[in-house]
Amino acid sequence: MSVQAERDEGILRYSLAERILHWFVALTFIYLMLSGFAVGYPRMAWLYDFLGGGQTVRFLHPIVGVAFTIGFVLMLVMWLRDMVFDDKDRAWARDLRTYVREGHSRVDVDRFNAGQKGYFWFAVVTGAALFITGLPLWFPGLMSGGWNQLARLLHHVVFLLTVGGFIIHVYMSTMMLPGTIPGMTGGRVTRAWAAWHHPSWFRKREAASAGPQEQPGADRS
Ligand code: HEM
Repeated sequence: MSVQAERDEGILRYSLAERILHWFVALTFIYLMLSGFAVGYPRMAWLYDFLGGGQTVRFLHPIVGVAFTIGFVLMLVMWLRDMVFDDKDRAWARDLRTYVREGHSRVDVDRFNAGQKGYFWFAVVTGAALFITGLPLWFPGLMSGGWNQLARLLHHVVFLLTVGGFIIHVYMSTMMLPGTIPGMTGGRVTRAWAAWHHPSWFRKREAASAGPQEQPGADRS
């Protein structure tokens, strides 16, 4: 794409493959969250009506769980290089107060800031924990009764943590930081958004957009 076309249409933040994978993980997560509430909280059993009934939910929940796990493992491979913490992230964390107050940091942020990297690793660790603790619930014969009880407790606690993380993630990427969601829907963000939130990545993208190929990943440009 020419520099002029890139200026007019905004900057490519996420490739089609990145968006498809992100929304696959998001949709499977939402199903797991809703079905988890239905199974775990009798007061929320009304959710069964929207999810196909109790038997369907109990059958589908672990299968969708495996699909979610495959999705986030692929996401881990896809974004690993962009998610490694560095010195800038330490500076960002020290200046967290400014970010919380203004939704912007004075640090020369690259493709992802330290908060986003933190959420990524949180999702990876909790996703792995949900998979590991979910297996003995799916196949109760795998372990003794005591271990099954522990797995059930941990599965539930980690589930609640992921719901908290999910609410914060959705709030920040939709309401707190306007202009963020188009990157994950159409793939592009405005140049102003990129320069404000991810100045280092923006400069690299500007330099790369004169080349023949667009690659949103910073180091691959
Ligand atoms: C309806 C639900 C969701 C919405 C609206 C949403 C929205 C977004 C948006 C707009 C971005 C781009 C942020 C940017 O470019 O700066 C993003 C990135 C990301 N999303 Fe989601 N997302 C959702 C669900 C999820 C779920 C369930 C997970 C994982 C379990 C997830 C993991 C990530 C990760 C790791 C990133 C990259 C780092 C970050 O920006 O935090 N998302 N999401």
